[in-house]
Amino acid sequence: MKLLVTGGAGFIGSNFIRYWMREHSQDEIVNFDLLTYAGNLENLKDVADNKNYTFVKGDICDRDLVFNLIRDNDVVVHFAAESHVDRSIMDPSSFIRTNVLGTQTILDAVREYKKRLHHISTDEVFGALRPGEPAFNEQTRYAPRSPYSASKAASDHLVCSYHTTYGIEMTISNCSNNYGPYHFPEKIIPLFISNLMEGKKVPVYGDGQQMRDWIYVEDHNRGVDMILQKGKIGETYCLGGKDAEITNLELTKKLIELLGRDESYIEYVKDRPGHDRRYAIDYTKAKKELGWEPLIDLDEGLRMTIDWYKNNQEWVGRCKSGAYQEYYEEWYGR
Ligand code: NAD
Ligand code: DAU
Repeated sequence: MKLLVTGGAGFIGSNFIRYWMREHSQDEIVNFDLLTYAGNLENLKDVADNKNYTFVKGDICDRDLVFNLIRDNDVVVHFAAESHVDRSIMDPSSFIRTNVLGTQTILDAVREYKKRLHHISTDEVFGALRPGEPAFNEQTRYAPRSPYSASKAASDHLVCSYHTTYGIEMTISNCSNNYGPYHFPEKIIPLFISNLMEGKKVPVYGDGQQMRDWIYVEDHNRGVDMILQKGKIGETYCLGGKDAEITNLELTKKLIELLGRDESYIEYVKDRPGHDRRYAIDYTKAKKELGWEPLIDLDEGLRMTIDWYKNNQEWVGRCKSGAYQEYYEEWYGR
């Protein structure tokens, strides 16, 4: 099989490519990525020389390139996106362009060449839960609340509409918060690990009582694999973490303990506008229909992640240099 992976130089995409090459070593993979600030070929340097791996630099909005690549591959796994909520609040335009128009370009090519598409989406499209409300599932109404989640919701709707209208072969996964190796240090877990390693304070938004459901990235990618193998065309699957619903403050305290610091490292900062209070995922459908469930609990996943960051401090240092500093000062200096 020939797989076209969009956004394969980012956090989840690069872990997916490494996972796929290990589990399906006979398959050919084309990694198609624009290498924005979040894309980093260093994430894949251990597989770069494999004869079954090719990298193509390009934009998912580039119609000619997208059509040529999709024509020449069997399956498209579409990770490419602008992914950081705070950046979407600072400027939504690239989110609409990549996440909506880029996905439309992919869909037009998938339709033209009759290829199978798996679209990677997020639980954020469902909006925010109140404490005690049941977790999101495949029937939950879409209610996105940030420019990021609205752009992802739009892309999901487009994918479904192309299935209904043109009969494209698609599946979607809506996954909760991922963490693990190669996670760009703008998101809470890698940012807090790296700040604590550097002896810097960690910026907790608002009261820190927002809840997230954390999934180790390998569990997510195994779920995508199982959807590609066993998922029903036209269906959506919710994927979530193993007993990993936790407030940001509890998570912060765990990281502080694991990294040998103390609570004086917590700095409460201005809240994220429109901050979603809680996400949680009910993955019963994926368990019943695919036999998928997450295997790595939060404590084990955090230990593995912290080990990775300790062993890859130069990678972190390179991510946190240059334009990153400007972003950090602009956002946290609001
Ligand atoms: P990321 O920001 O780390 O990586 C995104 C990748 O897409 C980068 O390599 C970037 O260069 C590439 N890209 C951006 N714009 C592009 C364009 N126009 N053309 C081609 N490539 C482009 O993101 P991530 O955290 O790995 O997320 C991957 C996908 O998973 C996204 O679709 C995101 O919405 C979804 N998702 C993420 C999470 C999470 O917790 N990180 C959870 C659920 C779903
Ligand atoms: O739920 C899936 C989503 O998870 C994905 O679709 C997104 O691509 C991904 O970025 C992530 O979104 P979140 O906004 O939940 O992740 P983030 O790491 O940015 O924030 C997690 C929580 O931590 C959130 O409640 C905001 C808070 N936070 C975040 C940062 C960066 C802080 O308190 N301080 C921070 O500095």
